[in-house]
Amino acid sequence: MKDTHEALRVTGDGSRTLFDEAAGQTLHSEHGAVAEARHVYLEGSGVAMQLAQGEVVTVFEVGLGAGLNLLLTLDLAVRHGATLHYRAVERAWLDPSEVAALGWGAHLHDPSLVAWFLAFLEEMRSVTVGWEPSREPVAWTRELPGGGTLTVAYGDAVDEAGLPRGAVRDLLAPASVDAVYHDAFSPAANPRLWEAGFLRACAGALRPGGAWSSYSVAGFVRRALDDAGLEVEKRPGPPGGKREVLVARRPAGR
Ligand SMILES: C[S@@+](CC[C@H](N)C(=O)[O-])C[C@H]1O[C@@H](n2cnc3c(N)ncnc32)[C@H](O)[C@@H]1O
Repeated sequence: MKDTHEALRVTGDGSRTLFDEAAGQTLHSEHGAVAEARHVYLEGSGVAMQLAQGEVVTVFEVGLGAGLNLLLTLDLAVRHGATLHYRAVERAWLDPSEVAALGWGAHLHDPSLVAWFLAFLEEMRSVTVGWEPSREPVAWTRELPGGGTLTVAYGDAVDEAGLPRGAVRDLLAPASVDAVYHDAFSPAANPRLWEAGFLRACAGALRPGGAWSSYSVAGFVRRALDDAGLEVEKRPGPPGGKREVLVARRPAGR
């Protein structure tokens, strides 16, 4: 990603995103970065409702990126006094100044959370300076504002066989998360993170009743999640955004 001024885009709901040249697409929906993040991930997965009820919630995110999904989820947790444990994988930290330019604070109840995330990125970038993006991931855990934890595995999520690498596998321990936010660029731009083996590992990490959610409704994604034992459902997308999005739930009691 080059200079912020070149990469910055304004999306359909007025919120901003960044264009990633390598992926050839923006980090968030051009129809509305914040609106779609809320609709697909927080509401689609049921996490918004669980946090509003003050529950302890564990999320695994594929692609921490600019931290939008993290910040929207954390903001709800803090607002409702709920405890959030957020796990994620990321292979390339963004520059904190680029993330600051996105202005996430305007969309949060507690805008001070952005400063916390920028400091986290700053720390992680200094710890991992010079690391190759393809290397074996290493995980760090930090306490989140309001309690709870953030654990991020830094490195390539999958190996040559398309399966989660060590630290990522640990974060995907069977039946250990309430939701998976699958936000890894589109299958066309980033096919490795949409292969059946990785989707199966994500599905296996869900507790009974937990949900995987994303914007891709591709047939091979639906089949892989169905084969992994999830109940797969296409749902309407957000107003003015994608026509359909995908939610796949592990049946309660299984
Ligand atoms: C669409 S962006 C994520 C946006 C983010 N969820 C947010 O809320 O701001 C996709 C992210 O996945 C990361 N990514 C892509 N391929 C990866 C891989 N093989 N391993 C780990 N991270 C990867 C990219 O670096 C990028 O930050």
